[in-house]
Amino acid sequence: MQEQPTTQRAVWSSKLGFILAASGSAIGLGNIVFFGANAYKYGAGAFYLPYLLALFFIGLPFMAMEIGLGLRFNRALPESLHLIAGRRGEFVGWWGILNASVITTYYIAILGWVVGMLLGAFGPLWRPSMAVPAFGMAEGALPNPFAYFFNMLSTPPTLLFVALMWALNILIVWRGTVTIEKAVKICVPLMWVFMLILIVRGLTLPHGPHGVRLLFTPNWGVMRNPDVWKGAFGQIFFSLSLGFGIMTAYASYLPKKSDCNSNAMMVSFLNCGFEFIAGVAIFTILFSLSIVPKASTLAMSFFVLPSGIARFPYGVTTFGVMFFVLLLLAGISSSVSLVEALASSLIDKFRISRLRALAIIGIGGTFISLLFTLPLVVDPSLKDDGTLGLTLLDLSDHWAFGYGLLLMGLAESILIGWVLGAGKLRETMNAHARIRLGPWFDALVRFVAPVVVFAVLAASVAQEIRTGMYGSRMATGWPPMAVVVLLVWVVFTTGGALLLSAPNKGKEAAP
Ligand code: PHE
Repeated sequence: MQEQPTTQRAVWSSKLGFILAASGSAIGLGNIVFFGANAYKYGAGAFYLPYLLALFFIGLPFMAMEIGLGLRFNRALPESLHLIAGRRGEFVGWWGILNASVITTYYIAILGWVVGMLLGAFGPLWRPSMAVPAFGMAEGALPNPFAYFFNMLSTPPTLLFVALMWALNILIVWRGTVTIEKAVKICVPLMWVFMLILIVRGLTLPHGPHGVRLLFTPNWGVMRNPDVWKGAFGQIFFSLSLGFGIMTAYASYLPKKSDCNSNAMMVSFLNCGFEFIAGVAIFTILFSLSIVPKASTLAMSFFVLPSGIARFPYGVTTFGVMFFVLLLLAGISSSVSLVEALASSLIDKFRISRLRALAIIGIGGTFISLLFTLPLVVDPSLKDDGTLGLTLLDLSDHWAFGYGLLLMGLAESILIGWVLGAGKLRETMNAHARIRLGPWFDALVRFVAPVVVFAVLAASVAQEIRTGMYGSRMATGWPPMAVVVLLVWVVFTTGGALLLSAPNKGKEAAP
């Protein structure tokens, strides 16, 4: 098994550049809104225990492993796994990358909607209601922010916002680490500042501190519920952007002598620290206004929090604009990491220029994202799924995030733990590390990680069976569509990965 680092591979200009980029990837919509919703659902303060256990047993080891892979092989995920386990390894790598590409297309579509909402936050969003002609609703029929959101969703300018977001993403990864570093140096610190401002606002709202008390009052009863554990492990994987080859791609641009373990810890703690304080902001803002943070990421971002902000005693426009800018910054620093994971995988495998890789990704990606945002109204009587695009997005999210990511985690732990041998990767990880990992790490990767990830996956399937396909939202009419999307997803990711992991004829194959 030879490992040849590519000589002219780009390198981050500083450790800070890597930390900002990797933590920028991890800190996203999940940290800002989803954590609060999950914590609420899973027993507030009691959620922290499973959450922290998930962080230490799964989050940190996987983060270190994905960074270690990048450091060891200096390649994006598929080529790294090729070096571990040949074509089969590469297949797994591409499967993860294709899964990530599904997510990229709708993640960027959502960013287009954030732009639409941001424009609304300068005024129209805060009016009591507005007409939604595409749904045949006159002003007053539906309150804002719902009316504004559905009107935006069903009007053509949104397509332009989505295309713009794609252009911005391509621009940011245009020159790889150089341009990514420039962008994250602006996005990531600003994100922290805006979040801190929102916390202060939340804490100083009447009854705001009551929200903090609620957040930290454990409800131990829920701990017996397996869903809580599933929620915590799922949240950690999602939140740390694991299972997509992102951290491997970013770490492949680290100098060889980097301290893998301290990088992994720093990125994980920055991410979880942000999530923790975001929880305070969400709980204070919502509880002071007697709103319950019980919703999906999308509903939290576009309905629940804007409803809260609309009721602020003053500064509604300012805080509203700030909230959507925060979502945009957090979202962009995450989406560029997805695009870079994709680009670097194509460049490493096919030895094509960055320009070509980005042209393929940009054109294909924009086209698919636009499908997600088509203002095509299928059924105006639907409450949540107003447009075909929104429904498609919801379904893809369910399969790609809910299952794809964890399946990847399972495959990674098996390949690294059993095929490469966790000890070998640990050598690389420890080589320049101040905190060295002991043999316990190997046991964690070989036994604990696969068992836990498998259990979470099994719990998800069990829940699917218990509550009907895709939970209650798919109760009537939608199961066939869920099945179709599942099939498309499986065929696209599996077929694509098979094709892409084929030997690269004509060009020198990866070493
Ligand atoms: N980590 C992001 C979040 O917490 C989610 C994400 C995962 C984004 C993977 C991009 C890639 O929101």
